Amino acid sequence: MHAGKNGVKILAGLLICVPGFVQATDLTATRKLHDEKCVACHEQKSAFGDPDAIYRRSDSTVKSYQRLKTMVSLCNSELRLDLFPEDEQDLVVFLNETYYRLKK
Ligand code: HEC
Repeated sequence: MHAGKNGVKILAGLLICVPGFVQATDLTATRKLHDEKCVACHEQKSAFGDPDAIYRRSDSTVKSYQRLKTMVSLCNSELRLDLFPEDEQDLVVFLNETYYRLKK
């Protein structure tokens, strides 16, 4: 029964794709999360009260997508911000789309 096997494969494919689709990053919600959890401290660190400066600084160490993930993860775990892994992933996507534009 060839057709049946293919049917199973298609179904399995859908099951893998659908959750990815549902979890597509909601940039508005993520921006809000970022404003709440991340901005105040970065603003202080950048000295000029500019919330974005830390991402746009010329001596940024973030030169790759992997490094961006690492920094978000570091800030999250070091500071015990208690974000879920999904939130962390959303923040990476948000920061990359808004500032870094690094290739995955
Ligand atoms: C209590 C302070 C604090 C909080 C809160 C904080 N960060 Fe940071 N973050 C820092 C500091 C300090 C640096 C700079 C580290 C360095 O110079 O290596 C930094 C750097 C970064 C960088 C790298 C910037 C660059 O291009 O060089 C990213 C990305 C980042 N933080 C993401 C986040 C995210 C996302 C959150 C919120 C979930 C967050 N941070 C919350 C202190 C904080």
